[in-house]
Amino acid sequence: MDRILIVDFGSQVTQLIARRVRESGVYCEIVPFNSAEKAFSEMSPKAVILSGGPNSVADIDTPRAPENILTSGLPILGICYGQQTLCAQLGGSVEQSDEREFGRAMLDIKANSPLFDGIDGIDGSEIQVWMSHGDRVNNLPDGFAIIGTSENAPYAAIADETRKIYGVQFHPEVVHTPDGAKMLENFTHKVAGCKGDWSMAAFRDKAIADIRAQVGAGRVICGLSGGVDSSVVAVLLHEAIGEQLTCVYVDTGMMRAGESEQVVGLFRDHFNIKLVHRDASDLFLGKLDGVSDPEQKRKIIGGTFIDVFEEEAKAVGGADFLAQGTLYPDVIESVSFTGGPSVTIKSHHNVGGLPERMNMQLVEPVRELFKDEVRALGQELGLPETFVGRHPFPGPGLAIRIPGEITGEKLEILRKADTVYLDEIRTQGLYDEIWQAFAVLLPVRTVGVMGDSRTYDYVCALRAVTSTDGMTADYYPFSHDFLSRVSTRIINEVRGINRVVYDITSKPPGTIEWE
Ligand code: XMP
Repeated sequence: MDRILIVDFGSQVTQLIARRVRESGVYCEIVPFNSAEKAFSEMSPKAVILSGGPNSVADIDTPRAPENILTSGLPILGICYGQQTLCAQLGGSVEQSDEREFGRAMLDIKANSPLFDGIDGIDGSEIQVWMSHGDRVNNLPDGFAIIGTSENAPYAAIADETRKIYGVQFHPEVVHTPDGAKMLENFTHKVAGCKGDWSMAAFRDKAIADIRAQVGAGRVICGLSGGVDSSVVAVLLHEAIGEQLTCVYVDTGMMRAGESEQVVGLFRDHFNIKLVHRDASDLFLGKLDGVSDPEQKRKIIGGTFIDVFEEEAKAVGGADFLAQGTLYPDVIESVSFTGGPSVTIKSHHNVGGLPERMNMQLVEPVRELFKDEVRALGQELGLPETFVGRHPFPGPGLAIRIPGEITGEKLEILRKADTVYLDEIRTQGLYDEIWQAFAVLLPVRTVGVMGDSRTYDYVCALRAVTSTDGMTADYYPFSHDFLSRVSTRIINEVRGINRVVYDITSKPPGTIEWE
C-alpha cells in the first residue's frame, strides 16, 4: 500500500492535508515533527509532506524537518512553515516580512510543473490561493526555481524538479484554494507515483490486522453509546477479535425515546456481539437530584458513568484493553501548539481516567479518521443507514438539554417533544441536511390558553444546525410552514409544553447544546 507521511509542525489545518490526500485515494499518516524521524524509518512512505505551523524559522529552537527525510531522495512537499524550514535547511534563507499575507491571494503560475498539471493558470491568468504567513522565503537553495508568485510572496511556489522537492507558501489543503486538492493529488500521484487505490475497504482490512496485532489473545471492553463512533468501533473490533470483545451499554436515563432498545437490538441481536446492558437511570437521576449547574451536572454524569462502567467491566472478569471511538479531530488537538492551554468551555464526557484506574491499554482504531470517514467505514462494515447517518448525541444526553434541575417528569416531556420534532424532520426529508437537531426543555413556565382554559406550562426550544465538524455551526433555515407544523404538533401531542420557540443562534457565539 502506498503511504504518505505528513509531518505536523502544528498548523491548525494539518488534518485537512490528510483529508485531501486520502480523498485522492492515498493512505497517509500524520506525525508530530518530533517523532517524525522514527515514524519515517518505520513507515517507508512514498513521499513526505511538511505541514505549516505557528513558529518562525528565523527563531532558534523552532522545529525542523528530520535529516533522514531530507536526505532520503523521496519527493517532499513543504507547505507554508514546511516550505520555509525546507528552504532554510537546504541552504536557502527566510526573512521576517512586514508584508504579511492573510487570506485570499492570487497565484501567478510561472512554469510548467507536474504540481500544476490540469490547472488553468499557466496561460498568464491567476488562480486563487489562501495564505497565512508573516515570514517568507527570500533566497532559494541550489537547484530550486520559482514556479509561482503572489503579490507579497515572490517565492509562493518553488520546485527542484530533479530532486522532486516542492514548496508552497500558500495552503493547498483548504477549500479557499480551489485548485489545492488537485495540486495535492498531482503531488501524490504524478510526482510520488502513488496509485490512488486506497479505499475504506483497504482501511478496514488494515485496521483489522492492526487490532489483531495489538490485542493478541487479550480481552477488550468497549463502551457503546449508540453514537456512530463507538458503534463503528464495536463492529470493527467484533470482526477483528470476535468473542474477545465485550461491549457495555450504560443507560444513564438521559437517553432519547427508544434508544436503549435500538442499541441492544442491533448489537446483541443483529451483530451477535457480547453486550452488557446496565440500566443505571435511577442511580444517575438520584445523583443529579437538585443539581442545576451545567458543569456540575456534566461532572456528575461523567464520574458516575466511569463508576458504573468500571463495575460492569469487573463483573465480566476485567479486560486488558479499552476500545474508544477517538476521532482524528480529538487527536490533533493534543499535538497542535495553540500557544497555551485552551479554556474549557464544557467538560466533555468520556471514559477518561478509566484505563489508568483499571490498568487497561487503549485501542483506538478510528483515530486516523474524520467523522464522515467513520460513517463511510460504518457503511463498509454493514451498519444500517439509520445508525451510520445518525446525528451526534452528547455523552451527558438529555441532561444538557434541560437547563437547570433534571427530573423524571421533565425528561419524559422532553423525550416526547424530541420524538415529534425528529419525526417531522425525517418526514420532510431534512434529516441528512442537518448536522444535529434536537429539542430543549426550558426551565420556564409561561401562560397560554388551550380550549377555554388557562395553561401554565414549559417552553420548548428547537435547535437545528448545519456544521462540518461541530466546531462552528449555523442554524438551519427551516421554512415557517415547517416550524408552525412542528410547534402545533408538539403543543397538541405533548402535555406539559404550551409554547415553542426556535433557536437561531450560530456557533460562535452560541454553542450547539444549551449547556
Ligand atoms: P457544543 O455544545 O460544545 O457541542 O457546541 C459540539 C458538539 O459536541 C457534542 N457534545 C458532546 N459530545 N460528550 C460528547 O460526546 C459531551 O460531553 C458533549 N458535549 C457536547 C454536541 O452534541 C455537538 O455535536
